[in-house]
Amino acid sequence: MPENRIVLLVDNIAELAVVPPGPVPGSRMRHLPVIADAALLIDDGRIVRFGPRGEMDAPPGCERIDAGGGAVVPGLVDCHTHTVFAGTREHEFVQRIEGKSYVEIAESGGGINASVQGIRAASCEELVESALPRLRRMLEAGTTTAEVKSGYGLTVDDELKMLRAVKALHERQPVELVGTYLAAHTIPREYTGRADEYLDAVLADSVFEEITREGLAEFCDVFCERSAFDIPQSRRVLETARRHGLFPRVHADQITQMGASRLAAEVGAVSADHLETIDEAGISAIKAAGTVAVLLPACSFFMSVEQAPARRLIQADLPVALATDLNPGSCMIESMALTMSIACTQMRMTPVEALLAATANAAAAINRHHRLGAIAPGMQADLLILDVPRVEQWAYFAGRNCVRTVLKKGRVVANRT
Ligand code: NIG
Ligand code: FE
Repeated sequence: MPENRIVLLVDNIAELAVVPPGPVPGSRMRHLPVIADAALLIDDGRIVRFGPRGEMDAPPGCERIDAGGGAVVPGLVDCHTHTVFAGTREHEFVQRIEGKSYVEIAESGGGINASVQGIRAASCEELVESALPRLRRMLEAGTTTAEVKSGYGLTVDDELKMLRAVKALHERQPVELVGTYLAAHTIPREYTGRADEYLDAVLADSVFEEITREGLAEFCDVFCERSAFDIPQSRRVLETARRHGLFPRVHADQITQMGASRLAAEVGAVSADHLETIDEAGISAIKAAGTVAVLLPACSFFMSVEQAPARRLIQADLPVALATDLNPGSCMIESMALTMSIACTQMRMTPVEALLAATANAAAAINRHHRLGAIAPGMQADLLILDVPRVEQWAYFAGRNCVRTVLKKGRVVANRT
């Protein structure tokens, strides 16, 4: 047995959430098998087996961790974030409270462009340093994996710098990160009225060659919206990226209904995200395409706007996922647990649906459902021990951190005593 190989028994679990591997379609999201008074065995970072405590014997030499009568769930996957950013925009938060809309603020000099200067002025190391405490808080609140987008550099070099920061952060702390190239987040000020020329620059073959050579991103995203990129431009972004081996995903149907989910389906996007204004045609299209519907209820909550139609999407049997959308403009919420509570109270998802959406389906939204987001033999042992005995209590204790212990690949990476 290699000396760094750890065999670990998580014992004294009041309720084990046996989340199945994603994608879990809407009609099966209501049901979560649980095992009461359980134990779970981990070998070399993977789940080996689990069951009622009485049937689980610890192999000789195995370490034991006492779950203390708490519930155990898979680590949360935050599948849509803008975690790397520089500077804050609390004045826009105040402007929205005073009645201005996101688009009005963007058109009067705020919005995404207001976050660009800070990124351009920062070094890669400064971006890493400023994101580290954010990721630590996310980890302590239960996020064990996160997708992180570029999109505030808006030059080739600054977008690549953001992605290099994501890669460095992945290597420097326990939250597993996956990069998404989002140069098409908005049109930078110096290209006003020349969106296609901007796309010529950021979609050059050499940029994708660099991304591939350094392993900087697996996905490419576009903000398909009136204030950003239209349908033909978004199609160009996603098709170009796909030719270069990046998987497409789309900021779709957030504010304006322009057919962005249909585009997501046409380009075979892994996920269509936001969906506050999705229509029936969009729902049918992403369903037929096998695209995961990623909902961002913390963002709508933060902006005091209408939520996405979660119940209609679940009823249509779509795999629905949740993410924070953490960013300095439209959602300064880092916690997936709070996001789940908002999904319950504002979108009428049940706590079980919210948990499946934040684990199995979120893992599917970043192509990691074969390894992450579920409790099944062979899955990576990314687990949370809660300080509440029942899974349903987690979303119910809204705004309180119920995560006591975080395991990543079978190792304790956070522990609150
Ligand atoms: O997902 N919608 C586009 N991008 C972000 C907002 C980014 C910003 O305002 O800085 C979002 O909500
Ligand atoms: Fe976003």
